[in-house]
Amino acid sequence: MRLLITGAGGMLATDVAAVAAARGFEVVALGRDRLDVSVREAALDAVTRERPEVVINCAAYTNVDAAESDPDGAAAVNAAGAGFVAAAAAAAGAWVLHVSTDYVFDGAKGTPYVESDPTGPGSVYGSTKLLGERAVALAAPAAHTIVRTSWLFGVAGHCFPATMLKLASERDLLTVVDDQVGCPTFTGHLAQALVDLAAGGPPLGILHLAAAGEGSWYDFAVEIMRAADVDVEVRPCSTAEFPRPARRPAYSVLRSERPGAPVLPDWHDGLNAYLAARVAA
Ligand SMILES: NC(=O)c1ccc[n+]([C@@H]2O[C@H](COP(=O)([O-])OP(=O)(O)OC[C@H]3O[C@@H](n4cnc5c(N)ncnc54)[C@H](OP(=O)(O)O)[C@@H]3O)[C@@H](O)[C@H]2O)c1
Repeated sequence: MRLLITGAGGMLATDVAAVAAARGFEVVALGRDRLDVSVREAALDAVTRERPEVVINCAAYTNVDAAESDPDGAAAVNAAGAGFVAAAAAAAGAWVLHVSTDYVFDGAKGTPYVESDPTGPGSVYGSTKLLGERAVALAAPAAHTIVRTSWLFGVAGHCFPATMLKLASERDLLTVVDDQVGCPTFTGHLAQALVDLAAGGPPLGILHLAAAGEGSWYDFAVEIMRAADVDVEVRPCSTAEFPRPARRPAYSVLRSERPGAPVLPDWHDGLNAYLAARVAA
């Protein structure tokens, strides 16, 4: 199996490349410096040259707050770029596994979102990711999987647990929002599932793939400190008390309604795996 991974400098892509290489796959991992997905010809050239069987598109404009004041920049990568990668894959006879987000939902449902639920992004980031999903489906109608995931954390990137642990080493009190609920998903677990999908013949269309269980950012922070044995006070606050440029969904738990969909470990297990991997890194 020959895999091409885009956005190779990123948090998820790093784990996907490592998992795939450990499984003995041929891995071509291209960072932004070698493949800028927002350039149509660059995507076409790379996929034509590398002849992968599966392209895993991890490249994205992921700064959710910066996207609010840079909609064109976000759209160039998340919307147009996603379509270019999918079109290039389709032209080369490859399958495209495209990574998307829970932020395509408005967060008002209150029970877990499944694939057929209506979307309604409340941010530029979410809107551009939704446009990317549509571009992928249009460009590779018979050979795409759109994997929506959520609240990623991993050793290879800036992530919530790393930020919390750093802040805990500097302060006695951490204040964390408790009115946004989601599925904190360890990239190591998601990467395993993505590589399994690539190897096993991925399903056509949208697939929700996030850690089992649910919790707020506050719950997550409390658990991080407990699991890492750090003695710091963690206090809940509301999103209104901690305003950010981009609106986040209040509730964006993802579950799959698709028969045979992969199930990821619970986020508590993801956190323990992350902490162990941090020590080993
Ligand atoms: N992080 C989360 O909580 C989360 C949640 C749900 C879904 N997702 C999705 O999961 C995927 C992976 O995210 P991640 O957390 O691994 O993000 P990440 O660490 O920010 O990785 C994204 C990578 O894409 C690269 N990139 C940006 N613009 C590019 C371009 N024009 N061409 C090629 N590469 C480009 C970035 O490079 P630079 O560093 O040089 O910009 C970065 O290496 C994304 O599709 C994201 O939308 C993430």
